[in-house]
Parts: sequence; C-alpha cells; structure tokens
Amino acid sequence: MPLESPLTSRAPRSGDDDARLRTITDALPVGIAYVDQDKYYRFANQRFAAAYGLSVEAIVGKHADEFIWRDAMELGDPFFTAAHSGEAVDFTHPARHADGRLLTVRTFLRPDIGADGTVHGFYVWSINITKQKSAEAALLQAQKMDAVGQLASGIAHDFNNLLAIILGNLLPLRDGDLDAALLEDYIEPAIRASEQGAKLTAQLLAIARRQPLRPERVDVEECVDNLLKLMRRTLPPSIGLSLDRRGSPAPLHIDRAQFETVLMNLCLNARDAMPEGGDIRVEIDYPSAPEEADEGRQVRIVVADTGSGMDPATAAQIFEPFFTTKGTGKGTGLGLSMVWGFVRQSRGTIDVESAPGAGTRFTIRLPAAPEVPADTRPAGTPAAGRGLVLVVDDNHDLRQTLCRQLTRLGYSVLDAENGEEALELVEGVTELRALISDVVMPGMSGFMLARTAQRLRPDLRIVLMTGYDGAAQADREGLALPVLAKPFDPRALVRAIEAGGEDNGPA
Ligand SMILES: Nc1ncnc2c1ncn2[C@@H]1O[C@H](COP(=O)(O)OP(=O)(O)OP(=O)(O)O)[C@@H](O)[C@H]1O
Ligand SMILES: [Mg+2]
Repeated sequence: MPLESPLTSRAPRSGDDDARLRTITDALPVGIAYVDQDKYYRFANQRFAAAYGLSVEAIVGKHADEFIWRDAMELGDPFFTAAHSGEAVDFTHPARHADGRLLTVRTFLRPDIGADGTVHGFYVWSINITKQKSAEAALLQAQKMDAVGQLASGIAHDFNNLLAIILGNLLPLRDGDLDAALLEDYIEPAIRASEQGAKLTAQLLAIARRQPLRPERVDVEECVDNLLKLMRRTLPPSIGLSLDRRGSPAPLHIDRAQFETVLMNLCLNARDAMPEGGDIRVEIDYPSAPEEADEGRQVRIVVADTGSGMDPATAAQIFEPFFTTKGTGKGTGLGLSMVWGFVRQSRGTIDVESAPGAGTRFTIRLPAAPEVPADTRPAGTPAAGRGLVLVVDDNHDLRQTLCRQLTRLGYSVLDAENGEEALELVEGVTELRALISDVVMPGMSGFMLARTAQRLRPDLRIVLMTGYDGAAQADREGLALPVLAKPFDPRALVRAIEAGGEDNGPA
C-alpha cells in the first residue's frame, strides 16, 4: 500500500510545495486528517496527531483501530460510514484529548470523490469549540436567570410593601398596653411570621441579584473559620471537615452575611451528597503577593466533597431556581441559585467540576478588596466621628487606656466596670454602636453580657477581648463574635468594630 500523502497524490508537486503545505496545515487551529476506504490514515497534521498523543509519523499509515480509542470509534463509526459512501457529514461530539482535557469538538468529514465517482476516502477537519460552547451555555444561563430574577424581584418588591404595612400595624400593638397573653399568643407570632416573610423576600432578591448587598471588608479566613465551626455541629461525625489556605491573606469586599449563607449552602449540599460519610474540604487561595491584592486580583474559595457527584446533565441545571433532585419537602432547589446570584452580584465567578462517584468541587472567585492604608494618623488626631462605643472591663487602668485610645481614633466612648452596669447603658443609650467587653469579669461574664446585649440590640456590634483562648470559648458558647486576644493593636480593635473583626490575633 503506497504511503504517499493524498494531498500530493493527484498533481505532481515538488518537495518544497509539500513542505509548505505541511507548514500551513500544521499552523491551522484545526485537526486535519485523510482516511482511505480501508480506514488507513494517509495524512495527519500535528494538531490531529497531538490529540492522540502521537507524532504525525506514528499515525500516517496506521489503521484507525490501531490508535483511535474505542469509545471515539463507536461514536464516530456511523459518520465515517456515511463519509465513506460519499456523504458530507458534520457532527459535534465530546472528545478526550491525550493531555486529559475533556473537549467539545466539531468535526467535518468530506468525501474524496474521484472523477469516475468512486470514493477514495474522506478528509477530516476537527475544531475545538469547547470555549464557544461554555460561553453559549453561560449566556443562556444568564438570560434565564435574568428572566427569573425580574419575576422574583417584582414579587419581592410588592410583597415587601405589604409586609411593611403588616409590620407597621403590628409593632405599635406590641408597644401598647395589651394583655400579655394576647400579645404572646397573637401579636408576637404574627410579627415573627412577617419578619420571616421579609427574610424570604430578601432571599428571592438574592437570587434576582437585586438585593441591597452590604459589602464590608471581610477577613475571609476568619469568616470561613467561624462558619465551619458552626457547620461542624450540624454535620454527622462520619463527615470530615477541613480548611486549607494558601498565600498571604487578602480581605474581600463583600456582604458577610450573604457570604456565610453561600458557604453554608455549599456545605449542606456536600453533606446531602455524602449520606455514607466522606470529606468536605474548603480551600482558600489568596492572590500570590499581598501588594498585588488589588483590583483584578481574586481570592479563590473552593468547597469540595467526596460525595455522589453529578452527571453532566444534572450539573448543567444546578444553578437554576427550583432545580432539585431531593424529594419533595427535602430541597427547594434555591440554595445554589442564591449562591449564583450572590457571586454574580459580587462581581465573581463560580465553576463546578463533578462526575458521578467522583465527588464535586465548587470554585468561587471573588475580587480581593483594594488595599487601603492602615490608620496612619499620628496619635492625637481624631478621625471623623465614628460613633459611640461602650468599653467594659473590670480593670480600671486597662479600661482607661482603651477609652483614651478609642477617643484618639475618633470614637465617643462610655465605660462600665461590670456587666450589670453595661447592660443598663445598652438598654438606655440608643446611640450606642458597639460594645467592647472583657470576657472574664467578676459577676456577669463577657459572654453572658454579649448574649443579653445581642438580644436587646441585635444591631449592636459586639467585640470581646480576652487574655485566654476566648475564640474557642466563644465558639463553645455558640457566639459568632470577634474575640481579640490581649494585647492587641488598637487598629485591630477598630477593624473589629467596623468590620466585625478582621484581625483577632495579637499585634
Ligand atoms: N455537592 C453536591 N454533590 C452532588 N450534587 C449536588 C451538590 N450540590 C448540589 N447538587 C445538586 O444540585 C441540586 C440543586 O442544589 P440546590 O442547593 O440549588 O438545591 P437543593 O439542595 O436541592 O435544595 P435547597 O434549596 O434546600 O438547597 C441538588 O438537588 C443536587 O442534585
Ligand atoms: Mg442545597
């Protein structure tokens, strides 16, 4: 069997021409081959050969059965038969590249028909269209979400107005002098339900990407850490939970509460995918250098599990609102829609890798917060008025020092010697923005104070400080509060007050 190239078989051509043709075909972003009627490959360009992990020389002269993978053969066979009978065929198919990538490829087969009408073989052109495919899918998804979003936000908007009216009429009743039983049995449940309704509409708006986000500088690691501690308690012991970080920490500028909900949704999904147990791994990957942690730099957060995984058809739908594979009453199918909405609204991206039996890996990329210079004002120069804070510590000198520092940093300060005294102020002084309390004090402990204050004033920022491992203790107490380890840099305190605690290590 002659092994000359079919491209040179009809018209006589010089070696130069051949070389030029080879250069051109090798440079094209297309896999090119020629297959004869007996399924021998007579020509292949580099790109085609590389897809099979072979050199051009290794392919030319080989029979298809010798190097084309069985599944690809099975998939392509009807098309090859058609091409062999003289038909032009175009088809799109998945293909595993020799380097391991799973690609979407569009292949064109063109029969090589001689003057007498006999088919000598066919030409193959294969183009990698993976990128276009995923761009198309992303666009479709975005359009779908937009439509759902408009609907959801329309409903949420009107519903919020109704809730405002309901709550507006209920709250004065609570504050009036109604009979306690009436209040407890009728008014309070109605208020709670209305507030629940408001939360639900907020969730709808999250899906619609139209909720008002309250972005702040968030220490990702602290935030993830706190959430994982909470998650730990809701996961069965058969599920392991670990956190890995790489690079030097860079804060994010995001809505903390929403971000926590995102992580929770991902962890709960992972749990549901591992009824027999397994591992959830959370990874935080910071931009490589802190000075690069600026616009354009992204923090990568991965939530990976070793659970059931998903087939491609399922994975393609998971971000759709109300898509769930969990039976009725088990899942609403809103978890990942919320995740998607949040990520998009925060100018980030989310990707999923999954295969049946091989677990699932969600990768979220969020823009790192731009660097802001630390508070570099010289001591004594007050910053713009930062509001009223309350300092609680039984140690008189420490209290005075803290008060002075906070005043210098621009706060108005009240102080209290113990928890009881502090609670009176929390109740009586509505302008109070933040409570900064020692943990171990005679009488009421800082934890007790924090819990009561939280109940009285849910909007109050609370920061605890301690000489012990207060974070672990706060965790055991079920308090998700920033705990500063003494001694600390006053700037860490400011950050904790302003952002809920970005830096709780000692200075
Ligand atoms: N880690 C995972 N492993 C396997 N399948 C997953 C995973 N995460 C999500 N899924 C699939 O995606 C679907 C949608 O997830 P989503 O969180 O949006 O809704 P849900 O978990 O079913 O309900 P809920 O509203 O309670 O969150 C799930 O029903 C499940 O089939
Ligand atoms: Mg879910």
